[in-house]
Amino acid sequence: MAKTKAIPRVFDTDKRIRLGIWGLGRGMNFFNTCKFLNIDVVAGCDFNAHMRENFLRSCPGAVVTDNEEEFLKQDFDAVLLATFCPAHGPHAIKCLQAGKHVLSEVTSFFSMAEGVKLVEEVEKRKLVYNLAENYPFTAANMWLANRWREGLFGDLMYAEYEYVHECRMLAYTYIDSLPVQPGHTVHNWRSWFSFHYYCTHSLGPVMVITDTRPIMVETFPSKPHIAGYLRGHGAENGTMTPSLIQMNNGGVVRNLMGAATNDSHSQRIWGTRGASEIGHDGMRLRLGGAGQSPRLNVNPRWEGLGEIAAQTGHGGGDFWTLYYFAREILTGVKGPFDIYGGCDVTLPGIQALRSSREGGKPMEVPDFRKKADRDRYRNDDWQQERYDTKRGVFGGAELNEKAARFSSIMKDMTLYAPAYRAYVDWKKVQTALVSQEQFLPIAQNLLDLYDKLVVTFRNARAIVKDYPSSDGAQVLREMLEVGEADKALSPGFLPALKKDVSSLKRKFGSSTIDLTRFEATRLLPERTLIPDVNYPATSLKYKVIPYQADFKYNDIRELYEGLKDQNGLVFARANYGSKKAEAGKLKVAADGPFKVFVNRKEVGCNRGATNPIPDQAITLKTAWKKGRNEILIALRTNGGMAWGFSACVVK
Ligand SMILES: NC(=O)c1ccc[n+]([C@@H]2O[C@H](COP(=O)([O-])OP(=O)(O)OC[C@H]3O[C@@H](n4cnc5c(N)ncnc54)[C@H](O)[C@@H]3O)[C@@H](O)[C@H]2O)c1
Repeated sequence: MAKTKAIPRVFDTDKRIRLGIWGLGRGMNFFNTCKFLNIDVVAGCDFNAHMRENFLRSCPGAVVTDNEEEFLKQDFDAVLLATFCPAHGPHAIKCLQAGKHVLSEVTSFFSMAEGVKLVEEVEKRKLVYNLAENYPFTAANMWLANRWREGLFGDLMYAEYEYVHECRMLAYTYIDSLPVQPGHTVHNWRSWFSFHYYCTHSLGPVMVITDTRPIMVETFPSKPHIAGYLRGHGAENGTMTPSLIQMNNGGVVRNLMGAATNDSHSQRIWGTRGASEIGHDGMRLRLGGAGQSPRLNVNPRWEGLGEIAAQTGHGGGDFWTLYYFAREILTGVKGPFDIYGGCDVTLPGIQALRSSREGGKPMEVPDFRKKADRDRYRNDDWQQERYDTKRGVFGGAELNEKAARFSSIMKDMTLYAPAYRAYVDWKKVQTALVSQEQFLPIAQNLLDLYDKLVVTFRNARAIVKDYPSSDGAQVLREMLEVGEADKALSPGFLPALKKDVSSLKRKFGSSTIDLTRFEATRLLPERTLIPDVNYPATSLKYKVIPYQADFKYNDIRELYEGLKDQNGLVFARANYGSKKAEAGKLKVAADGPFKVFVNRKEVGCNRGATNPIPDQAITLKTAWKKGRNEILIALRTNGGMAWGFSACVVK
């Protein structure tokens, strides 16, 4: 068992907050942060049995139920509300009426009338309501907010913030990537709702950084959509949903959400004195008050409690939302997203969808602090029609064995069809690649998963044949087109692919060798030194990262799940056989701080590694000896935040 590490004291009080978590998918992401913030998790509630079991493993002794009435009757102070997105308004009201403070996941509510009801319920009670909008609280955005407050950038003129996330698989699975059950049904809201509603991760940061609030919004509908999203009967997703928002200082924000072919989180703001850009290359500022002023990269560092925030999920954002909530309960000091901030960031989504339905007509964003504004919308319950997710994608028809497994087959389609498409499309432009060897892993990936692709494509075709006019057939047919099933399943395809991979390997060498057979120790205390490591150890599972068919990792979670203190080190060991003594390279990535040793000599470390795993790769120089080389990775579990690591030898 790992040695208990002292928990830093954040609040100058011993008062505790007893918390219940309602919705144990995303809701559990906050679990490990609670210990820093005087919060004890004492109850959980979810319809899903597997999530309740997972909750109890982390929190033995807590009350857990699938019944919301029973949950709300328990003796606790506050609810972390992470139920279905369109249900947050009524659920928050129910919690307040049960006498609980509420930290609601985004968004606050689904219609104008629901918003009015929620505001008035919060005003009636001496209870805290916060919205858990977390994207303003990354190190970069908080650093920017501090510099704006100091006047470095002047006034907001224009900003482009975005949250473009093609989460097609999540229309058919729960957040933990298990297919939705029963298998002919689809996700409660991700399968149909317009991304306009999910406007807070992009607008929220601009509001907090520039201290402005939205007052008007307008948008045109973008009609083309990508494959594999349901359409009609209330479903409208799988497209881009930009809106233009007028802020109360006269500045304009282009707020971009969407599910398309290029996930991106680029962020640009122009102020009257200076400008900032955040993208794949980090943060760049242009300071000097002119278009050609010097443009330089900066290194935004955490300020204040950032050290703790950095250890928690979502780039630290989850720490801050929980911190502001606990601070208001314990000390009365308000955070940025009280009920009114929650309204400011939620309302533009509802009004943008309306604007797009009315040909781009500008819509006001009322200020729900004012009763007169609320009165205008008190009875306005306009909302997007909802797809009947429970009835499912076969319109109530009798289900055969494959149709009953639709969600699982569709989940696989969202992984395998794009893997095929990536191969054939990159092949078309292969010679234009700056580093042509980068095509090899794309081809190799398709070869590795080809057997599963064949089974999935055949199952999908069978469903399309048996239920041709169903919604299920519509999405499967679209994915079969992406995967060019006729070509992919033709007898000549696999031999040609194998030939291609062999010739690429001959040309570029096998560029990387994935290390897939690791064995690992149990969870050991933080300060364990290598000579103490006690072998033998357990074999690790080598898994695909949900949403990324081409990225696999060695999963360490089984080694510490269920342990009360999930802090410590896991040592994982693999062997690499080298034909001769030579210089080489080793690429390692993990979602917790890690050190790498080759033949017991330290060759590198990444102290700041956090999720997601693929973004944390470091390439290290090694000196292979002839024969067996031991590769040892020491990975810090970060209170249970670390899922694992990937490692490969680079040739
Ligand atoms: N801020 C972020 O970074 C972030 C990330 C992911 C999700 N979210 C938000 O968190 C919320 C939850 O997300 P999720 O990914 O877990 O999705 P989800 O909608 O799949 O999960 C909701 C969970 O709540 C349970 N639930 C719903 N109503 C219930 C009820 N009445 N009684 C008992 N259980 C009930 C469901 O069984 C489900 O497990 C969503 O609103 C989403 O917008 C925010």
